[in-house]
Amino acid sequence: MLKPMKLTIPTLIGEIGKLGSTANIFIKRDDLNGLLISGNKARKLEYLVADAKRKRCDTLITCGGVQSNHCRITAVFAKQYGFDCHLMLRIYGKPKKIYTANLLISKLLNATIHYITPSQYDNRNEVMKQHAKKLQKKGRKPYVIPEGGSNEIGILGYRDCMMEMAGFIKRKKIEAVYCAVGSGGTYAGLLLGKKLLNVHTDLNGILVSNSVQYFQEIINTICNKAIKKFRFPISIDTSCMNLIDGFIGPGYGIPYPAELKTIKRVAQSGIILDPVYTGKTFHGMLDDVKKKKYKKVLFIHTGGIFSIFAYAKELTNTINT
Ligand SMILES: Cc1ncc(COP(=O)(O)O)c(C=O)c1O
Repeated sequence: MLKPMKLTIPTLIGEIGKLGSTANIFIKRDDLNGLLISGNKARKLEYLVADAKRKRCDTLITCGGVQSNHCRITAVFAKQYGFDCHLMLRIYGKPKKIYTANLLISKLLNATIHYITPSQYDNRNEVMKQHAKKLQKKGRKPYVIPEGGSNEIGILGYRDCMMEMAGFIKRKKIEAVYCAVGSGGTYAGLLLGKKLLNVHTDLNGILVSNSVQYFQEIINTICNKAIKKFRFPISIDTSCMNLIDGFIGPGYGIPYPAELKTIKRVAQSGIILDPVYTGKTFHGMLDDVKKKKYKKVLFIHTGGIFSIFAYAKELTNTINT
């Protein structure tokens, strides 16, 4: 079994009341797992960085949107653990002259940035593979991490998260756990953990992009690769998944007024959500909780704090209305 590098700390679970819903809402604070590494990707990278070290690689290559949290966290770990870092960032139009938020951090950490077009991004695995080949020719040993660190190795980090939460879920009789679904790995890992530990709770994933069918396929594939690779004695198919659409709004990374209002409201409890992932997820959760009349739910705060600075205009308008 692959051993993770211990790069993060177990995270706290806090309670923030009902916020107008029927349920007491608990929050798993994966946003508090570290400062520069804040968020869900650190758990996946614990395994991926360990795998890269084991294979004696010297360069991490990964991809994401221009404000990718995952790319920022990869850049941090690369610096801390002695890798070069190449980030393939999807950009619409021309790069902005002033770096901000996640991109600013990745740049400060001296990651090599390659801007790619949305159509190149559709082909991201091939683009990264070709880039890895180029680096190999120069004598480097690259390690390619897929979008969001979401593969059969990365998702073990969220199996671990379910292990951390299982006792609490049982003790408190938590009826449902909610997480964002962006590349599918967080949900896949939690599902793996739920099955392995036989945890009795609904696992609800709120989509922030794409469609239910798209993620059913992705999550099914990743989980079954992990089951095969690590010989887990469980089976997973699409009937085990509860994926919820309807809260993406106009599109991935585009916030909408009702979501922004939820972010403003939740901030009054001292918790800051981001407009791309956790804001949409929390907003969707409040709606879903009402429909299903849950009494106790657990929201996984998957991070994203730095991206609020990329949405200063939208958030300023919301604060002032
Ligand atoms: C802050 C944050 N929350 C949630 C997610 C979604 O997690 P996943 O990609 O594992 O579905 C991401 C990344 O996609 C993220 O950056």
